[in-house]
Amino acid sequence: MKKLFFVVVLVVAAYLVMPSTSYAQPYGYEGTQVCAMCHKTEKQGQQLKIWQESLHAKAFKTLQTPEADKIAAEKGFSTKAAETKDCLKCHASGYDVDKKLLGSKFKIEDGIQCETCHGPGSAYKPMAVMKSREESIKKGMVFYEDKTKYCTDCHNSESPTFKGFNFEEMYKKIEHNVPKG
Ligand code: HEC
Ligand code: HEC
Ligand code: HEC
Ligand code: HEC
Repeated sequence: MKKLFFVVVLVVAAYLVMPSTSYAQPYGYEGTQVCAMCHKTEKQGQQLKIWQESLHAKAFKTLQTPEADKIAAEKGFSTKAAETKDCLKCHASGYDVDKKLLGSKFKIEDGIQCETCHGPGSAYKPMAVMKSREESIKKGMVFYEDKTKYCTDCHNSESPTFKGFNFEEMYKKIEHNVPKG
């Protein structure tokens, strides 16, 4: 038993010291328009429309405003907000990956887009994969059991304009379920 335990510890330790980049999955960002092909009709649940009408769709454009540049300057950044990683990390996707991983329809202007929350979709977007949650997750789709986990990465006090986050109230504003039946 003891020996087995030791081996397990070694394997775990080896895993922990491996450079994390060797595990990084090179999934690419496709862009909202690609997801929308199958997620826009009433029957599908109108995810495209719900997202377009949410502030998430404007999150990058918000960084291009004088108000945002002022916040960035006050935080001590010498770059414009839309060029500052510490702002982009909660207002955009795809700014920090190899350009080869960005599909032709991908737009940074789409701000917090489908793949910001659901993971880059180059491998899970085919219909045959999408139909199975399990297969989609294997191919990079992010699916959390606890919905609040999708939100608090960004809706937290690290945001310079944070005023608190009430999950129930905020979730209602962006909910985009597939209609049952
Ligand atoms: C070829 C069509 C197609 C494309 C393209 C597509 N999807 Fe899907 N997706 C589906 C189908 C079909 C389902 C199964 C549920 C349903 O009927 O809507 C699904 C389910 C999902 C689910 C729910 C998974 C679950 O288990 O509850 C998410 C999240 C999702 N898609 C996100 C995306 C994102 C993000 C993109 C873009 C990268 C995308 N989809 C592109 C067809 C597609
Ligand atoms: C990647 C970062 C990020 C994630 C993840 C995220 N948000 Fe946001 N959210 C933002 C940003 C940035 C804004 C402000 C956009 C703007 O004003 O331009 C925002 C704005 C909103 C708004 C509009 C605010 C209002 O008062 O109407 C709602 C609602 C919202 N988010 C809900 C959610 C929910 C619910 C989740 C989790 C399911 C979530 N967000 C996940 C970054 C994020
Ligand atoms: C930890 C994630 C996070 C970071 C980092 C972040 N933001 Fe935001 N930002 C948000 C969220 C979430 C909102 C929605 C309102 C809120 O809860 O703060 C938002 C809203 C905004 C707004 C809209 C103002 C408002 O009152 O709604 C501006 C402007 C803004 N951010 C600028 C910036 C700038 C500039 C930076 C970089 C210095 C930055 N943000 C960094 C998450 C973030
Ligand atoms: C702010 C984060 C966020 C964004 C942006 C976002 N989603 Fe979602 N999405 C969620 C959450 C949270 C759920 C609920 C997951 C659950 O039920 O546990 C969800 C669920 C879904 C589902 C499954 C619904 C069901 O009834 O099973 C689909 C399909 C989906 N999203 C597609 C999209 C598409 C397409 C876009 C872009 C147009 C998009 N999402 C944008 C967070 C997001």
